[in-house]
Amino acid sequence: MPKQDLKGGKAARKPATRKPAAPATQASITKAKLIDYLNDDLAKEFQALIQYVQHAAVITGPQYDAIRVELAVHSNEEHAHAISLSEQIDFLGGTPGVDVATVRVSEIAKVMLEQDLEGELDAIARYKARIAQAELLQEYGLRRALEDILMIEEEHARDLQNALDL
Ligand SMILES: [Fe+2]
Ligand SMILES: [Fe+2]
Repeated sequence: MPKQDLKGGKAARKPATRKPAAPATQASITKAKLIDYLNDDLAKEFQALIQYVQHAAVITGPQYDAIRVELAVHSNEEHAHAISLSEQIDFLGGTPGVDVATVRVSEIAKVMLEQDLEGELDAIARYKARIAQAELLQEYGLRRALEDILMIEEEHARDLQNALDL
């Protein structure tokens, strides 16, 4: 893959609301950068767990009875991911953050589920990149923890796709 040159124009024009996902083959990945990326992932796990609590409480409609129960389960699983990431960040010598990425809400059930699905698809892409980065740094324990998280995020995405009839 050619060397990334996203940092110049694009980042300068638009203040970074999110970090660009580092390409998996990026040779310049360092432990410090990986800790930063993991803290970004952690903020999004905190977001997801809060978002699922809120959506599970307010979603209405008989067709959403099954997914309402699932959303509460998802919230508990995002909590477990936050604990796992925090431990991994600490093992790597970093400090686990306490930031929460922006929680998305809606009054429309379908929109809530779409917001949740977008978050899961983003998480899947981020954790695939993170697994490759852990591999490059020979952080095999971290890689294993991330693989476990990735499998659950894929289940979450499938649950939401089913609920949305996708
Ligand atoms: Fe998660
Ligand atoms: Fe998830």
